[in-house]
Amino acid sequence: MSLLKTIESGPTDSIKRILVLSYSQSGQLAELTKSILEPLEKSAQCAIHIETLRPVHPYPFPWGFFPFLDAFPESAHMVPPPLQPLTLSGEEDFDLVILPYQVWFLAPSPPVTAFLKHPLAKKLLSGKPVVTVIACRNMWMLAHKKMKNLLAACGARMLDNVVLVDPGPTFTTFFTTPAWLLTGRRDFLPGFPPAGLDAASIQAASRFGYALRDALHSDQERGTAPLLIGLRAVESNPHLLVSEKAGTKSFYIWGKLLRAVGEPGQLRRRPFLILYVLFLIALIVSVVPLSLLVQALLRPFLRRRLAAVKQEYDAPSGSGTERMSVYEQ
Ligand SMILES: Cc1cc2nc3c(=O)[nH]c(=O)nc-3n(C[C@H](O)[C@H](O)[C@H](O)COP(=O)(O)O)c2cc1C
Repeated sequence: MSLLKTIESGPTDSIKRILVLSYSQSGQLAELTKSILEPLEKSAQCAIHIETLRPVHPYPFPWGFFPFLDAFPESAHMVPPPLQPLTLSGEEDFDLVILPYQVWFLAPSPPVTAFLKHPLAKKLLSGKPVVTVIACRNMWMLAHKKMKNLLAACGARMLDNVVLVDPGPTFTTFFTTPAWLLTGRRDFLPGFPPAGLDAASIQAASRFGYALRDALHSDQERGTAPLLIGLRAVESNPHLLVSEKAGTKSFYIWGKLLRAVGEPGQLRRRPFLILYVLFLIALIVSVVPLSLLVQALLRPFLRRRLAAVKQEYDAPSGSGTERMSVYEQ
């Protein structure tokens, strides 16, 4: 049932109004969102409004080499790009917000950040329960932290967080993800597994939609407990946190320098972008494997610390699987 139909026929207590944000370049995040929404769309008790975010200056896909690099200073500093007008007025009253986002340079992608910093966001999200859904390569933990702050600034209540990452090992996705983003082809590199989420994981994400449908049916979104416990919503990898912290620091410092040099797209940023990319490659080929090696060597001593980090980033929805059999199709 469409939201407009609900508004026309007047509000009904039993109908749950759901706001879903949408931005996806390759269609990957849109596919994942579609899979989650399918059970909700089939339910006569749900009215869904999908708000597609449209940057005034669209980001290219596939990316050119320099436009890709040039996006990092503003992404890392969470400078919101202007969006085309939203179709919402801010007066709508939603029961649940589903907020899918991708990670760009260890931060929520700029179009999504722009929505959360939009003056309407506070009106729409204040006091509302939010389910965030991340689809990215595999580094999302600090973006999730930033998202929590953005949502808190809007007065929203984050109830759940679902995360799907590329199934390939870190070493291979380091090559396959950029190749995909720069060519638009997931299978660009022969001999490597295809970039991006696998179809089976996207399809299996409908379990979250079924669980949300049932939770909404019994008004659980009004409470404070997560709705997606026991569905293997998140499996964080605490070993990547050191690399994420190093990356975030470097994006922040170099981003500040680049923003001082010029505006996005200006040629005078290019020499600094080339310098930065050399620095970044050195960082990635040294810090990432080195930190993983040191952590492997120190594993017995780090066990408790890593378990605490995992618990922190698996929250609120967790990595438990106890309800999978109920909701897996
Ligand atoms: C500019 C840019 C930066 C990205 N940075 C990260 C990152 O820091 N961590 C990560 O796991 N994935 C990163 N990705 C991958 C995206 O999170 C996402 O998986 C991919 O772009 C597909 O999303 P789509 O649905 O918009 O096509 C980046 C992608 C782009 C385009």
